[in-house]
Amino acid sequence: MWKELFLLCLASGTALCGYPYITPTQGQVWPRPKEVQTSQTYFKLEPEIFNFTVKAHNCDILELAIARYSAIIFSNPSDRKRDVTRGDTLKDENSALPITSLDIVLTKECEKYPYLGMNEEYEIRIAGSNNVGTATLNSTSIWGILRGIETFSQLLIPDPEPPTYVVNATVIKDGPRFPHRGLLIDTSRHYLPLLHILYTIDLLAMNKMNVLHWHIVDSQSFPYVSDAFPNLSLKGAYSQERLYSADEIGQVVAYGALSGVRVVPEFDTPGHTLSWGPGQPGFLTPCYSGGKPDGTFGPVDPTNEANYAFLKTLLTEVTQRFPDRYIHLGGDEVSFNCWESNPNITDYMKKANITGDYGKLEEVYITKLLDIVTNLPTKNGYIIWQEVFDNGVKLAPDTVVHVWKGGWQEELAKVTEGGFKTLLSTCWYLDYISYGSDWRNYYDCEPFDFNATSAQKELIQGGEACIWGEFVDKTNLIQRTWPRASAVAEKLWSPEELTKDVNSAAPRIEEFRCKLVYRGYNVESLGPSFCPGDNF
Ligand SMILES: *[C@@H]1O[C@H](CO)[C@@H](O)[C@H](O)[C@H]1NC(C)=O
Ligand SMILES: *[C@@H]1O[C@H](CO)[C@@H](O)[C@H](O)[C@H]1NC(C)=O
Ligand SMILES: *[C@@H]1O[C@H](CO)[C@@H](O)[C@H](O)[C@H]1NC(C)=O
Ligand SMILES: *[C@@H]1O[C@H](CO)[C@@H](O)[C@H](O)[C@H]1NC(C)=O
Ligand SMILES: *[C@@H]1O[C@H](CO)[C@@H](O)[C@H](O)[C@H]1NC(C)=O
Ligand SMILES: *[C@@H]1O[C@H](CO)[C@@H](O)[C@H](O)[C@H]1NC(C)=O
Ligand SMILES: *[C@@H]1O[C@H](CO)[C@@H](O)[C@H](O)[C@H]1NC(C)=O
Repeated sequence: MWKELFLLCLASGTALCGYPYITPTQGQVWPRPKEVQTSQTYFKLEPEIFNFTVKAHNCDILELAIARYSAIIFSNPSDRKRDVTRGDTLKDENSALPITSLDIVLTKECEKYPYLGMNEEYEIRIAGSNNVGTATLNSTSIWGILRGIETFSQLLIPDPEPPTYVVNATVIKDGPRFPHRGLLIDTSRHYLPLLHILYTIDLLAMNKMNVLHWHIVDSQSFPYVSDAFPNLSLKGAYSQERLYSADEIGQVVAYGALSGVRVVPEFDTPGHTLSWGPGQPGFLTPCYSGGKPDGTFGPVDPTNEANYAFLKTLLTEVTQRFPDRYIHLGGDEVSFNCWESNPNITDYMKKANITGDYGKLEEVYITKLLDIVTNLPTKNGYIIWQEVFDNGVKLAPDTVVHVWKGGWQEELAKVTEGGFKTLLSTCWYLDYISYGSDWRNYYDCEPFDFNATSAQKELIQGGEACIWGEFVDKTNLIQRTWPRASAVAEKLWSPEELTKDVNSAAPRIEEFRCKLVYRGYNVESLGPSFCPGDNF
């Protein structure tokens, strides 16, 4: 087998067997916009005489974005030698018309927090008239303006003559394919410092992703500091230096809002909860062996009424700290062994006429939990992992079912046939690492690739890349996530027909990866390459 492969390699040249060097594009936008028209006309732009001009509504979010992008846009240091250039094609750049401003036209007032289904559409026009170049960005929404400034920043190409940049005449009309484009981070298996969470938000925004799904607690540690139940983190965190206070959570939420990134917390129950146990006696089910408790614990004890009052108080606090309408309630991988061993649970199930049906017992729990969340003062909507649906739990019609297991095509067909909104993650588990260009596999996963009516497909809200934390901490979070998650970002932002060809995406993602490097993020390499103008 290997011999045949080897011979095939020799016969076909290196492209099939080795990884060829891929030349990055110049001035292309990632993720790819819905409509782009460019022409041969180009303009020059000099940092010293360029600025942003707010022509209509303004607000803090916009002013801060302008400050941020003024730094970002010109972060490919102009005093550094630009070693690969388009000098051959642009010998007469001095005759190009200058662009001295990006005019920003926001036609409606700013909103404060991003939300599911917010408007992210924008248009950019870069053109010449009366011997000056003009650049205009317009949108009815601050979120569209944020996406458009990112796009503008990517259109600029460093000219061989620092500090000038050039940009082609361009018209872009853009907006997202899916409203929910997220990344899951996990701060239970490893603590992630606040700074690394904020870097992650920066990179989400540069990728036009709009959800940070914060899987904040799990069995290994409970770093969320609750004012109502301080023992949870006192006894459940790895250490009292590895915590997220109300104030720090507020910072993450506020920072996300400035970039149009929603922060959706996950409090996963009834499984994945061991770290809750020490701080909340009675919450977990004691497991039995040989007729008596053996000192170990299983999922939440659904038969203990006090647990529901506790959850109501805790989730009231959580939903006040995270203003997003949605909370993720988990519900995955509930092991029934411990429930099966506990005689109290057996008694309870007998009285409820559900003997032996542990799926029904889970339903009893989830039904009460969903009822609590629906009736919180904040009236939250919720997302749950697919098992809750698979186990036949009766769900409220606006539940969002998050698909993560194998066989996702059949699952999406079933979930949407049931009329539920859904998110896909199965193809995008970035914590599974392997040799080679795995971003191509992420790019080849098409969420509409299942058999269903178009009405069913409309129930797909988007998806999330997941960087689970078992083997990820601050030393590798950024490198391992990016630019692999960028493949997912384009899949979820750009129109289906523009994301079918992974080979045409390859030179563009190379360029984008280099831009992230220039901006100071240690995002890993996609294969043999170098970033022009930098010593990478
Ligand atoms: C931009 O303009 C240059 C110079 O005229 C031209 O060579 C290049 O093809 C143009 N690029 C695009 C994407 O239109
Ligand atoms: C933008 O440029 C104009 C003209 O050079 C200048 O007067 C103005 O202060 C600049 N604004 C900012 C925010 O830099
Ligand atoms: C941008 O402005 C043009 C011209 O006024 C308008 O037709 C278009 O709808 C606007 N686009 C957006 C996204 O607001
Ligand atoms: C926290 O745990 C301590 C024992 O370590 C206990 O005395 C105290 O009552 C607990 N606090 C609450 C609010 O449950
Ligand atoms: C069983 O239920 C009783 C009565 O509710 C309670 O006192 C006891 O702690 C429970 N034991 C276990 C192991 O769940
Ligand atoms: C359980 O089933 C018995 C016999 O069918 C019935 O009398 C009883 O009311 C049921 N109990 C519950 C809680 O549904
Ligand atoms: C869709 O259905 C057709 C015909 O039944 C089948 O050949 C195809 O494999 C199905 N596609 C998927 C993605 O399940």
